[in-house]
Parts: sequence; C-alpha cells; structure tokens
Amino acid sequence: SKLKMFVDKLPDMPRIRGYEVVDGVSKSKYLNIGMYKKKWKFHRDLPPTPVYAYGLNHLRATVPGPTIEAIHGVNTYVTWQNHLPPNHILPWDPTIPAAHPNKTKGIPTVVHLHGGIHGPESDGNANSWFTAGFKHKGPTWTNKVSRYPNNQHPGNLWYHDHAMGLTRVNLLAGLIGAYIIRHPSVEVPLRLPHGKRYDRPLIVFDRSFRTDGSIYMNSTGNNPSIHPQWQPEYFGDAIIVNGKAWPRLTVRKRKYRFRIINASNARFFRFFFTNGLRFIHIGSDSAYLEKPVETSETLLGPSEITDIIVDFSKSRSKVAILANNAPYPYPSGDKVNEANNKVMKFLILPKRTVDKSRIPKTLIKYPSVDLSSVSQTRYIAMYEYASSIDEPTHLLINGKPYEAPVTETPKVGSTEIWYVINLTEDNHPLHIHLGLFKVLEQTELVKVEEFKKCMTKLNDAIKCHVGNYTRGKKVTVLAHERGWKNVYKMSPGFVTKIVVRFSYIHTNVSYAFDATAEPGYAYHCHILDHEDNAMMRPFKVIK
Ligand code: C2O
Ligand code: CU
Repeated sequence: SKLKMFVDKLPDMPRIRGYEVVDGVSKSKYLNIGMYKKKWKFHRDLPPTPVYAYGLNHLRATVPGPTIEAIHGVNTYVTWQNHLPPNHILPWDPTIPAAHPNKTKGIPTVVHLHGGIHGPESDGNANSWFTAGFKHKGPTWTNKVSRYPNNQHPGNLWYHDHAMGLTRVNLLAGLIGAYIIRHPSVEVPLRLPHGKRYDRPLIVFDRSFRTDGSIYMNSTGNNPSIHPQWQPEYFGDAIIVNGKAWPRLTVRKRKYRFRIINASNARFFRFFFTNGLRFIHIGSDSAYLEKPVETSETLLGPSEITDIIVDFSKSRSKVAILANNAPYPYPSGDKVNEANNKVMKFLILPKRTVDKSRIPKTLIKYPSVDLSSVSQTRYIAMYEYASSIDEPTHLLINGKPYEAPVTETPKVGSTEIWYVINLTEDNHPLHIHLGLFKVLEQTELVKVEEFKKCMTKLNDAIKCHVGNYTRGKKVTVLAHERGWKNVYKMSPGFVTKIVVRFSYIHTNVSYAFDATAEPGYAYHCHILDHEDNAMMRPFKVIK
C-alpha cells in the first residue's frame, strides 16, 4: 500500500547546547550522548520502526538525533556512549573490510563530526570504533571523550557514525544528527532569519519500509558469490525530512532559513519548488558564502549541505512543494519516480507578517587563497572494479584499499592542489576530513578508454600523461558552489581541480589542537555503500 504524502507535521529535533552560560559568559560543556535502540514513527500510517537513535537518554533519543548548538571558540566535549544490543537491525556484510567480523559481540560504532576542525583522536577514525560499554574497541581507539574546539568559522556540520565497513548500515539505522557552530558577533549583524521557528535544519534522506514498519534493505548482494550482502548503492522509496516521510510545514509570508543536509546513503537531490519560489544560498557545507546567490534549483550530493533563505512572501500560491528531479543512481540512472520526486509541502498562511530579517549584500569575507603558495599537487583517481557478470564488486581510490600505507601527508598549515580523476560512471561526492577546499574547475577527459587502460596498468596519472587527456569541455562551477566546501560532486569522466587548505580559513592563527597526532584523518567518497567497500583512504598531517 502507498503511504499518503504530507500528513505528518515537520518535526524539529531537540536542541542541545554544547556550552554553558555562566554569568553571561559561554563556557565549555561536557555532554553524554547515547546511541539507543528504540522505535520511531516515520509516518502516521506506518507501524513503529526499530531504529538506532542518538539522545541524552533512551526516551529523548530521536531520528535524526538532537541538534547540537556550539559557540565559536568554546569547547564542546562529548562522551558518545553505545547502548546498542548485540544484533544489528540491518543485514551487513562480513566479506567487506569491516569492524568486528564476529557479529555476536556488539555493534561497533564511532562518531565523526563532519565538517569539524579538531584533533585526529576526536575525529571518529573508522578503526576507533567501540561496542556497548566500551567492551570491545577498534585498533586505533584511544579516548572516551571527544573534544570539539569549535574554533573554526561559523556554519553547519553534522555528526554521524563512521565505523569501518558499517557506516552504511549504522546511518541507515538512524545514527545521524545536525551540529551548528554559531559566532554571534559575526552572525547577529547579518540579521538573517533566526530563532527556532524561522531557522531550521532539514535533514533529508530516503528509506524503504516493510509493511511491519521495519527498514527494508536488500540483503542479497549484487555479486552474492563475492559479497553476500553488499549492494553498490542503497535507494529507498520514501523521502524523510527530520524523521517523517514527506512532512508538511505551515509557514508565514516571510523569510525562513533552512539548513538542508543530505543524509542519504547514495541519493542525490536536485531540489526545486513547484511554484517557482527561489533559493537564496548563504552557505554551502560548513561555511558561509561571501555573498548570497539566488537560484531556482540546487543539486545536493550525499552529505552536502546547503544553507538557504526562502522568502514565502514572494509566493503567488498557497502551497509550495519542495520537489526533486535528480535521477538515481546519479547521473547515469534513468529512474525518478512519483514517490521520491516529492520531498515536503509548505502551506503558506495568507496574511503578511512583519519580517525584520533581511538578506545582506555580503556575508563573510575570508582571506583569499594564494595559489602561488601551493606546496604540493596530488592526483586522486577513482576506480570501479567489476566481476565477470559485470556487476561492481568494489571501488577504490588510487587503486588502494584503506589499509594500504598512507600516501597523502599534507603539511599543517599548507595549501595543496588535488586533481580528482573520476574513471567510473557514477558521480562520487568526495569528502575530506579536516581540510576545506574550493572547486576551481572541472574538465572532461578525452580518449578516456585509452587513459583508463594506462591508469589501470600503471596507476600513475603523471606516467599516463593525464594532461594530454584533460582536454575536453570545461564545466563552470556554479556561483553558490564556489565557496569553501568539504564535499563536492566528482563528475564521471572528468578531472576536478580543487585547492585544499589544511588550516583555518577565516583566520591565520594555527590549529588549536595537534593535527599531526595519531591516528590521522581520512578522505573518501560519501556514497556510504562506496565508502564501506572501500572508497576511503587515510591521510596524515605532518609538521
Ligand atoms: Cu561525513 Cu568521513 O564523513
Ligand atoms: Cu562513490
């Protein structure tokens, strides 16, 4: 039976302060946030679904988890506690490189604060996982408490699980949440829409459900003789926003701010409003843009974040549907269906209301990147490997698994150019921990088969004369995507040139932690099913 759309109200996730106010001054705070197995109602007509949820306790745990609000320059300490019973609610595959091959000893979890600039010991390294009560721990586990210094620019982050080979199932089960860093003296003068009602995170993902309410995940691999369970991409039929399928929200005729996080495993969204309302972009991923950019649609790959203003006073209709027209898999798939081309509905109240918020001409000015200071150029190639039945078996970066020794060792404080060469047919959203980057250009490869042949043999872009093949059409990076990012869509058959900074982007002071410590960081494709098998590589920052 089909679920009726727009029957549930859009929830707001609980908000937790990551700081304490003592005599008007913000001070560090220690939080205990647990992971609990519980049941969650995703839709009025769907029986409660077993999920994993983050929260201060079992009762208050939600999917997505609470929104953590931090203050610039004030430490937030979190002890992430695993309270999950031993058997996973979803099928997972022991044949891919995964934490804890013995399924009976608990669910490995570890939290990564995506977009956070913090020390490696608090980065949620995939091998720093732990099970309930810290009974079993991964090889790089060191500390129960994560420290987030929040010394970076203000913006939108999110936290999610990152356990080796289990990320796709742990997130599908519900282990995700928003995290906002505010910098009042910088942001208040901007006079953007603010307050609980007018400034809302929207965490969007797709899920499929069985009639008993449980999450449905195909448990037969596309290549069952090699990987009995792993599928190259998970796609669900229902679109969930803040934990409800196709919710609705009643809004006033005024400006709203939405911080939209694509928390899907593999689905890209190309959002637009059915009544022509426009998006005014003020930020992308964790950073504000330098100035607002207006568009009528926006493409968001898995784990990309867009921070937008929507002015409902411009609406000429009483209803606006936030819709999606991205095919899946993106961009080669030909599927878009009735269910997943709608996201949520806005009901616009007829009366005009006072709106003191505004859209400023400029937002935040960052020091400019000096390309002459680039100290290192790297080539990052993405490959897909298939079995004899022509079904993908795994994907790799630079032909190497995660366990292979570190090959990327940027210097702390340095600027690097990375050429990301996508030799596959899919778009892969590349995410770099710690570093922020700007996308400079995307150039199509020519004679790609010849180049691919050389690359699969030598696995060396320079020896294969990458420059001779980077000669096709150039695609301009859209204005709202030209700011600082931590994830970007690597187009298939293209070379994407990015400039990466291993320092703060808003100031010249050095990191407030030791970035060179163990166990280092990672970069990976953020299609979770790819990341798990095994499109992820470690990197280490050196002095
Ligand atoms: Cu959003 Cu390495 O993760
Ligand atoms: Cu990928």
